[in-house]
Amino acid sequence: MTAAEAKTLKIPMPAGRLNRRTVERSNAFGRSAMIQADLIIEGAAELLTLRGNSIRPRRGEEMRDLGIVRQGALAARRGKIVWVGPTADLLTSVGPVAFSRLIDAYGKTVMPGLVDPHTHLVFAGTRENEFAMRIQGKTYQEIATAGGGINATVAATRKASRQELKTAARKSLDRMLTLGTTTVEAKSGYGLELETELKMLEVIRELTQEGPMTVVPTFMGAHEIPPEFRQNPEAYVDLVITRMIPKVAARKLARFCDVFCETGVFSPEQSERIFRAAAGLGLEARVHADELTDLGGAAMAARIKARTADHLLFASDAGIRQMAAAGVIAVLLPGTAHFLHLERYARARDMIAAGVPMALATDFNPGSCMTESMPLIMNIACTQMRMHPAEAITAATINAAWAIGEEDCAGSLDVGKRADILILDAPTHEHLCYHFGVNLVETVIKNGKAVVEEGQRVR
Ligand code: NIG
Ligand code: FE
Repeated sequence: MTAAEAKTLKIPMPAGRLNRRTVERSNAFGRSAMIQADLIIEGAAELLTLRGNSIRPRRGEEMRDLGIVRQGALAARRGKIVWVGPTADLLTSVGPVAFSRLIDAYGKTVMPGLVDPHTHLVFAGTRENEFAMRIQGKTYQEIATAGGGINATVAATRKASRQELKTAARKSLDRMLTLGTTTVEAKSGYGLELETELKMLEVIRELTQEGPMTVVPTFMGAHEIPPEFRQNPEAYVDLVITRMIPKVAARKLARFCDVFCETGVFSPEQSERIFRAAAGLGLEARVHADELTDLGGAAMAARIKARTADHLLFASDAGIRQMAAAGVIAVLLPGTAHFLHLERYARARDMIAAGVPMALATDFNPGSCMTESMPLIMNIACTQMRMHPAEAITAATINAAWAIGEEDCAGSLDVGKRADILILDAPTHEHLCYHFGVNLVETVIKNGKAVVEEGQRVR
């Protein structure tokens, strides 16, 4: 068997340094009982655990602590992490079961799978025409007023079949996996009518049931005012509150409720009404806040104790202070500012200094940010918002997991969490932010199984 074959096949143990005789001998010397594992990764130049306090997301200085184990190793069994520590301690702690897989990560970086906590994953059609219009000087708002924008995607999504939506979303999920994302949030919001909103949420549910990606669903019926309600937006807010939210909640199709709180879309008062109705039925709030104008979205998010406020390019000092006090997580989406040529980014440094816990996301959607790549977003976060690579990694893993209520199962390499693990072709973690426009993700383990090997999606 060649080395390449051994790498892709499930090789029976004993193998390499972990041979059974040494394991038995160490047992005979009265060592504590061995932890059984069916997946072992050893020898990582850096193993980023992201371990730390488990009661709240990281803030301030804590965001730079990646909990690095040098020459690190990890063991998993039945899709869950069972042991993490130095490779030197592996032999005395972990016993492989038959047909375990051993992965050699010498010279590489091992880290938790990335978590993308803000996407508009499900949609029909694309809007490359708008991309070209912006290059010629039109703004996102001008394009929307002229009949493009969210409502263009709404028209296409209403017409699309479930299968069409699912096929397109599946392709994006596969791209995300190869780029290192193993957990993602996905919003409805291109239906803006009950039937299509439910269709989108059902597609999201089927995608997560079919796996391997974990997809956390958010209801976003208040993403835009649909054309048929242009003259009477209040009536649309009422429809969202009285018809849509109760249906979504009764069928348990979403965990969160999101609103586009923006000039010309939904006011803070309307947003708050929607969020209060959603909270009453068990949907937690997250909000598109202060993306294009300062409308007091950050302050509103603090007032209602939203889990997250997202975008925040125009958030005021008072809004930032209130978010810090209320513990609202800022989900920053610098890919959107880049893609829309906004010439302004969220004030990440001020937010970190103020003690706002921070996450990063793609905002993947056909209008304002057409990318599935978290590493690209992390690079932009570093260059345009002056985030330190370690802060960007914290924001794309453990804090991103907190942003979507997945903190108990994702975002760090902790015993008991899902074995969602990346092996990077990189000797240190900084490379993930620094070496841009390429994919350094070599292996992706999802629920203990390899879904990407040598950079390719495998099934
Ligand atoms: O987060 N801001 C509102 N929603 C998306 C844009 C969606 C679209 O243009 O289709 C955003 O940027
Ligand atoms: Fe968005």
